[in-house]
Amino acid sequence: MSKKLLALVGSPRKGGNTDTLVDEAVYVFYKAGGEAEKIYLNSVHIKPCQGCFACMENDGLDSVCIQQDDMMGIYQKMFEADFVLWATPIYMWSPTAQMKLYLDRLFPLGDYQNTRWRCALNGTPVGIIIVYAENDPLHSGVFQTRDILKVVAEASGGNTAFVIHSTVGEKGKTRQNVDLIQKVQEAVGKVVQGLD
Ligand SMILES: Cc1cc2nc3c(=O)[nH]c(=O)nc-3n(C[C@H](O)[C@H](O)[C@H](O)COP(=O)(O)O)c2cc1C
Repeated sequence: MSKKLLALVGSPRKGGNTDTLVDEAVYVFYKAGGEAEKIYLNSVHIKPCQGCFACMENDGLDSVCIQQDDMMGIYQKMFEADFVLWATPIYMWSPTAQMKLYLDRLFPLGDYQNTRWRCALNGTPVGIIIVYAENDPLHSGVFQTRDILKVVAEASGGNTAFVIHSTVGEKGKTRQNVDLIQKVQEAVGKVVQGLD
């Protein structure tokens, strides 16, 4: 399989719960003979959207967005990917700020645009992984976090392939959560099968 996975990690903690689950997705992709790239959103330079609306003018901008930062490379990689994974912990009942900066910069891809970048994810499957500490999902913020990620994926032309969410323990504990790891492996395995 010569397919590409692009994983965007919203947690600042390398080796944390989100990262562990992303590694499982990457492992499934590698095992199937695919390529995978993981980007820590905390380690790249993504400026906040400035609300200039330049992306809405005419047919849109050659570079998707007027701000020349690390999003330029990320847009390119997203357009080349066969599967995009968005993984974030919940911070304050929301996706992390790192993830939100990235999501805002997908504004040029929205289905409300009339430019060449409208819905540019073009049917690419998007997997969503959300982790949180609260035992009761009702109090964790998972529902709004899921809705935000899903609506942005779909407005950008992506297809939500799966949403996996779980309460998790402290850093490193997810490595021992066999059921959760299996869930991720199975969900990504299904995506891989669909790409063949
Ligand atoms: C600033 C901050 C805010 C948080 N807010 C929430 C929250 O609203 N709901 C929740 O269930 N967990 C919350 N958590 C817990 C994290 O989601 C949890 O620690 C998660 O495992 C972190 O993922 P990571 O290991 O991938 O970094 C918060 C943690 C931090 C540091």
